[in-house]
Amino acid sequence: MTKKRILTGDRPTGKLHLGHFVGSLSNRVKLQDEYEVFLIVADLHTLTTKPDKEYTTKLKENVYSQVLDYLAVGIDPQKSTIYIQSQIPEVGELAVIFGMLTTVPRLERVPTLKDVMKDAHLTIPSFGLLGYPVLQAADILMVRANLVPVGKDQLSHIEVTREVARDFNHTYEAVFPEPESLVGEVPTLPGTDGKAKMSKSAGNVINLSDSSEEVEKKVMSMYTDPTRIHPTDPGHVEGNPVFVYLDAFGSDSDHEQITKYKELYRTGQVGDIEVKKYLVKILNNFLDPIRKRRFEYEKNPELVEKILKAGTKKARSEAQKTLEEVKKAMKINYFG
Ligand code: TRP
Repeated sequence: MTKKRILTGDRPTGKLHLGHFVGSLSNRVKLQDEYEVFLIVADLHTLTTKPDKEYTTKLKENVYSQVLDYLAVGIDPQKSTIYIQSQIPEVGELAVIFGMLTTVPRLERVPTLKDVMKDAHLTIPSFGLLGYPVLQAADILMVRANLVPVGKDQLSHIEVTREVARDFNHTYEAVFPEPESLVGEVPTLPGTDGKAKMSKSAGNVINLSDSSEEVEKKVMSMYTDPTRIHPTDPGHVEGNPVFVYLDAFGSDSDHEQITKYKELYRTGQVGDIEVKKYLVKILNNFLDPIRKRRFEYEKNPELVEKILKAGTKKARSEAQKTLEEVKKAMKINYFG
């Protein structure tokens, strides 16, 4: 039986952090055994809000750092096809065709548009930003993916993709599957400052590439329970990021100790410093194999480039096949 196909990926914004691991990377590592996975580095999508040269000049570095993070956490290039969006011209071509099937008011209704405009302090969207979901539809349908694992915020984009697929199939010929989104139980990790979400812009992250010293420094100054002044005060475990991280990154053999610390913390019998020191150990145990793999790839940039070139070549050949069928279905394959 042929495996179902998955398309997933991110905009290359630089270093990935523990929140990315919990939210999507760990899931991707699991999915690659069961599915045929395409992993897009969506660099064109970053241009929707940042087309300036200062930023485009940094893209290459961000792309490589992100791909190193993918490889370091265990995305296996033998199983997952990692590729760079901007190096596949057929994506743009497909997006042009899909743009003809999508109205402007439909795109104006996509809820992420307003959020992105607000964050980027834009009052008027560029044509490209309005078309963000159309470009994403081209990414997904280009490889004819069946499943798209995404966070909740992306659901409205997958809905546009499904509409485009339906509309195309109905207007011309059935070329595309109608991809399903796969929204698992995606936990969000709080920031080191206690804010609900770990995010680069909030500066409250622990990166997958942080050294053990950086991890120690960040953890020792982490936000814990603001109501607790003395180590003998009873403390709160729920919602306390130190304990959330312990639960998320402790291995099975750490469970007993974690449970013990929770009890001691609740009853005012252990200080924050001791629990934080323990968390440093847990996080470094978790990150060590990731660091090791990252180091192996870092030593060998030609290999990383080779992986990206091979992945992009494979994805491009899928795109070319799809585009050929698309033109055939539309009867615009003039030269046979
Ligand atoms: N828009 C996605 C994000 O910001 C990134 C992305 C681009 C994507 N193309 C995609 C995700 C195709 C899944 C499938 O997270």
